[in-house]
Amino acid sequence: MKIILTGGAGFIGSNVADRFIREGHEVAVIDNLSTGVESNVNRKARFLKVDIRSAVIDKIFERIKPDILCHHAAQIDVRKSTDDPIFDADVNILGSLNLLNACVKHKVKKVVFASTGGAIYGEQDYFPADEKHPARPLSPYGVTKLTIEKYLHFYRETHGLEYISLRYANVYGPRQNPFGEAGVVAIFAERLLSGKRAVIHGDGKRTRDFVFVDDVVKANLLALGYPKSDVFNIGTGIETDINSIFRMLKKATGSKQNEIHAPPKPGEQDRSVLDCARAEGFLKWKPKCKLSEGMARTVEFFQKTKRQVATNAQV
Ligand SMILES: NC(=O)c1ccc[n+]([C@@H]2O[C@H](COP(=O)([O-])OP(=O)(O)OC[C@H]3O[C@@H](n4cnc5c(N)ncnc54)[C@H](O)[C@@H]3O)[C@@H](O)[C@H]2O)c1
Repeated sequence: MKIILTGGAGFIGSNVADRFIREGHEVAVIDNLSTGVESNVNRKARFLKVDIRSAVIDKIFERIKPDILCHHAAQIDVRKSTDDPIFDADVNILGSLNLLNACVKHKVKKVVFASTGGAIYGEQDYFPADEKHPARPLSPYGVTKLTIEKYLHFYRETHGLEYISLRYANVYGPRQNPFGEAGVVAIFAERLLSGKRAVIHGDGKRTRDFVFVDDVVKANLLALGYPKSDVFNIGTGIETDINSIFRMLKKATGSKQNEIHAPPKPGEQDRSVLDCARAEGFLKWKPKCKLSEGMARTVEFFQKTKRQVATNAQV
């Protein structure tokens, strides 16, 4: 199939692109490199350094005539979305609508959308949250993701554009940006390996549902062949607190650092965990990677990256 993949220079998108290409699909990556890096883009993909809000998007769809849009490009920083909701909406809502209009005009069959199962539900009433849990986002970022899901429904009803929305839990793994605001596994792994202080905000008892990127990639692959429009949680159903993440990474990296706590970051949810029975029943998707294995693979990736940087510096 011909697939346009937005955000394919970023963490999740680039891992998805690699797998699509391995499966024989033709992939064109659209990314403005605001947080992504060109070296992440698969060499067999066509790379277009373009903003999803650009008027050029229409021309790209006209030329490529994709079967599928896999939409991962986004403003992903929750704090930034709170500080500047207009910028967040501009990228996440208007950028997405620009893509959806191009999909309708150029007869794309389906959209696979990277949504969020953490930010959409807000503070949960029950644990784990299934897809029927009330959506009460606590950040503009969560609001924009929910809004796009509503638009996807509208485009399907009005224009027949099918969609799958994948509500990811906390995704972690190789290529996650360790220097951003989010992505505690990547941040701790990089800092512990570099001998820098890895700081736990608050008492470390906040929980998240950590899902390994390869499992998320598999959900995207299954979504390509799924015959109907639908919304699926993509997580593990397992709650892990930040103190445990720190301890596991301390062990995996061989660090001697003790726990350091700082004041909690405001506006963060206390607990988040997803019920993924729908994805298992309908999409036939189940997470395979255990947290300890995923952590080890993530640490290995950051160790390798550090070695490469050191070697390049010597040359
Ligand atoms: N990482 C997670 O835990 C998580 C959880 C839930 C949902 N998601 C969603 O998954 C998707 C990918 O997230 P990620 O963690 O890989 O982040 P990322 O920052 O690594 O990837 C986002 C990519 O989008 C690109 N981009 C941003 N704005 C753009 C624009 N205006 N035009 C073109 N490209 C643009 C960036 O350069 C980057 O390559 C996002 O939609 C995010 O909201 C991620």
